[in-house]
Amino acid sequence: MKTNPLWWQKGIIYQIYPRSYQDSNNDGIGDLPGIRQRLDYLQSLNIDAIWLSPIYPSPMHDFGYDVADYVDINPLFGTMADFDALLADTHARGLKLIIDLVPNHTSDEHAWFQESRSSRDNPKRDWYIWRDPAPDGGPPNNWLSFFGGPAWTFDDKTGQYYLHQFVTQQPELNYRHPDVLPAMLDVMRFWLDKGVDGFRVDVIWLMMKDAALRDEPPNPDWNGVEPYQSLNHIYTQNLPEVHDLIRQMRTVLDEYDERMMVGEIYLPYDQLMTYYGEELDECHLPFNFHLIQAKWRAQTIRQLVDSYEDALPEGAWPNWVLGNHDQHRIATRVGLAQARVANMLLLTLRGTPTSYYGEEIGMEDGRIPPEYIQDPPAVNQPEIAHIIGRDPERTPMQWDDSAHAGFTAETAVPWLPVAENYTNRNVSAQDDDPTSMLSFYRALTALRRSEPALNVGHYTAVDHDNNDVLAYVRSASGRTFMIVLNFTGEPQEVSITGYGEKAPITLATHMQRRGSVTLPQFTLAPNEGLILQI
Ligand code: GLC
Repeated sequence: MKTNPLWWQKGIIYQIYPRSYQDSNNDGIGDLPGIRQRLDYLQSLNIDAIWLSPIYPSPMHDFGYDVADYVDINPLFGTMADFDALLADTHARGLKLIIDLVPNHTSDEHAWFQESRSSRDNPKRDWYIWRDPAPDGGPPNNWLSFFGGPAWTFDDKTGQYYLHQFVTQQPELNYRHPDVLPAMLDVMRFWLDKGVDGFRVDVIWLMMKDAALRDEPPNPDWNGVEPYQSLNHIYTQNLPEVHDLIRQMRTVLDEYDERMMVGEIYLPYDQLMTYYGEELDECHLPFNFHLIQAKWRAQTIRQLVDSYEDALPEGAWPNWVLGNHDQHRIATRVGLAQARVANMLLLTLRGTPTSYYGEEIGMEDGRIPPEYIQDPPAVNQPEIAHIIGRDPERTPMQWDDSAHAGFTAETAVPWLPVAENYTNRNVSAQDDDPTSMLSFYRALTALRRSEPALNVGHYTAVDHDNNDVLAYVRSASGRTFMIVLNFTGEPQEVSITGYGEKAPITLATHMQRRGSVTLPQFTLAPNEGLILQI
């Protein structure tokens, strides 16, 4: 067990997508004062830190991930005074605040890019990645945008292409230029001086590109669906040089007290682990997205948890994620009944959990009518919009059964439609129901907070005879819990030996279930998870 765990090790991170949480000025877009109004609710979830997706000035071509100014607040979300007030109130409640840092690219409206594109000899020209056209006038190489089409856009004024791996309005910074990283480190200091507790760093594993801009080879395993996946991204992702950048970012964090960074990284475990740093001097937490990507089967999850635990370097702290603003919601992926099991898994595995807003009430993907589709990859590639579009997981938070679910005024038009099931799937309906998903989530987070076994204890997998059931043990300071999860909609009988004859149920997904189970053989109800004290 970890002695003296830090807040970001023991605690739960809760992600808010600010556009969609709470609108306070009835323009249909969520904002900082809105989030501030909801701090009582946030505190009632027993979470420890709030992570805000970007709140910077932005033309919103990628909904804020196109940053036009790193040291200001978008008027859509409020003012710097609103931010300061939110930060102060968050801290006054003993909660931490993590903000999104987007260092890989800026908006094309950022002053740096405006200068860079103004002439070939502007001092900021090489802050971005510019190249002459290929001999046929086309892009300099075959690199692709995640959002469809080439990763290069031609700029008439200076007759060169610039690189962007997302929308054309997100030119990529050139971290091979010696002045770019120092500028970004100053941005970090600006927010750290204000008192933010950490950063979620956007696409941190993409920050360096091949210096020679070599063509990427075809991906032999491509399934023919998403064009971006047709190449093997060996020259745009996970370059060895990126680690030096991350170490320098970490050095800035270490100038302050207990600040942290969590890096967005989609990589297999062996490569993911390198982002802790050889001396644990890079990301405090490299996001572990494998629960999102894995097949929802007990055996698969067992294997992935064990291989993650095995791969973790000595001293590195684990973390787990079920969903975010780029992924279809967990309750949609596995079904509402299994979503309780998923929450029990997330909140009892060893490591820092990140919850995405709405997971606590079982929010599902919203249905987005074609005329409402706004997310750039879906707009650019309508034929695969239903697969890659991210609007469905970004619909407004469902607070109550009034118009627009209490997200905005009745007379306002929310930026994305509220999911149709909001009239019964909402906070207010679940608040007073002792068996609701929300009550279950609160009971689970309260238990996790009060039991060192669950927040920092050891993890041990438990072998047994049922392939549809996942079982593991968490223990610390002489207290031990066994978590037993039924991954199916059928009852499952399981036999678990070596843990005595009777175990009291500390918490069940179906909260009516109390009492104890008789070991070694017992039956889990469909979609049931139990936390047993042993
Ligand atoms: C990250 C963000 C995503 C954004 C992209 C470009 O993957 O999570 O929402 O579109 O980076 O910034």
